[in-house]
Amino acid sequence: MEQQLFYIKTFGCQMNERDSEIMAQLLGEAGYVESAEMDTADLVIINTCSIRAKAEQKVMSLLGHLRGNLKKKPKLKTVVAGCVAQQEGSEILRRMPFVSLIIGTQNIYNIVPALQCAAEGGQKVVTSLVDVYDIPRFLPSMDLPPSAVPFRKFITIMQGCNNFCTYCVVPYTRGREVSRLAVDIVDEARVLVEGGVKEITLLGQNVNSYGNTNSVAPGRGKGEYGFSELLREVAALQERGLKRLRFTTSNPKDLTDELIDCFGSLDILCPQLHLPVQAGSDAVLKRMNRRYTISSYLGLVDKLHKVLPSIALTTDVIVGFPGETEEDFEGTMKLLNDVRYHGSFSFKYSSRPGTRAADFSDAVPEDVKSERLHRFQKRQDEISLERNKEYIGRELEIMLEPADDGGLLMRGRTGSNLIVHLKEGVKAVPGDLCMVKITYAGQHSLQGKTV
Ligand code: 5AD
Ligand code: SF4
Repeated sequence: MEQQLFYIKTFGCQMNERDSEIMAQLLGEAGYVESAEMDTADLVIINTCSIRAKAEQKVMSLLGHLRGNLKKKPKLKTVVAGCVAQQEGSEILRRMPFVSLIIGTQNIYNIVPALQCAAEGGQKVVTSLVDVYDIPRFLPSMDLPPSAVPFRKFITIMQGCNNFCTYCVVPYTRGREVSRLAVDIVDEARVLVEGGVKEITLLGQNVNSYGNTNSVAPGRGKGEYGFSELLREVAALQERGLKRLRFTTSNPKDLTDELIDCFGSLDILCPQLHLPVQAGSDAVLKRMNRRYTISSYLGLVDKLHKVLPSIALTTDVIVGFPGETEEDFEGTMKLLNDVRYHGSFSFKYSSRPGTRAADFSDAVPEDVKSERLHRFQKRQDEISLERNKEYIGRELEIMLEPADDGGLLMRGRTGSNLIVHLKEGVKAVPGDLCMVKITYAGQHSLQGKTV
């Protein structure tokens, strides 16, 4: 068979990025070759996101572009994977009949046989979603030339979500929460570290409930082996060369004291935590089904600051949730001013089909949402700048990142996840650590010089 070139375009979150890597490895093992550009590929996979309406529109316009390419390349195969595939299924095929395969979030490990089956005239929509299943054991391939070894990687530790926040489509697109076996995760981490990876981020929709819905370790039932224990096991790979460990995302309602203590006791755990709050009003949180209050959230923030005063907190916020009053929104602004987040991601509420909030009345007008979002982001930018200025004059350790400047590395990242630009490059390889003194702070990055 002629060599088949594939290209994967990924939208959305880090879970999707990791899923794309898994599909790429499986395709590589089946003899496909990854192409650097979409337009030269014989097989294009779009790994999609449906968290907000805008993300879904991007997928449809890319499919339109690919339909155009079909004229030049009639044998082009197009695959839609991920959350939009899961949610829309055969509806995509109705609108875009040229699509070769639609593959759901729980089916990505079957990408190779599913492609073959569809090519032979079989099923084109593979989107089965079940409640109970085992995530396949899957080890990353580190059979790479040294220059191609990534210095940081994501590891998915669980899939799905059981929380049903009323605005969120994830429980419908990724199904029920299932945790991977601890041994599979630790083995994956070990393979990465022995292959040269220096930083690992553990991923899940809600890592704090790891191990709560299925047993993840021999002899331990549900809830008897939790995230903190997993984190400590992975952190022990420090002995084999792991330098930094992060995780995301944490639901405040499940953040345990034991996990908070890890920030004080595990020195390779980076001093940053993404703790999505979504809204600063108890009434809105209740309608969102978040199951915590602003006062309990602030209690967590206090504990975190006690354990690790330098911790950098970031958050997600939704403005204009149905029924959000000006007073509710002022609660969100107050929270921002109280916590003084280092950074945040903020979004206008977007109604998602199938979610409970899609049926709520009292939609907030679009112009009010836009104005609130603007107000929030403007204040966040001011706070981020103030926070960043606190670093000026301090000596920090950064992990150097790849840059295109003739062997010299010109930027790195702090443990708190801020970019530091260097005036003079350092001769090093990506993933090396170096100490810098911070000389200047901007809104989104710092500048420094090596010490
Ligand atoms: N509308 C707007 N933002 C949303 N998010 C999730 N669902 C929606 C929605 N329907 C945001 C939340 C979440 C982040 C990943 O996306 O803030 O934490
Ligand atoms: Fe969505 Fe809530 Fe689950 Fe996060 S915790 S994925 S916001 S339902």
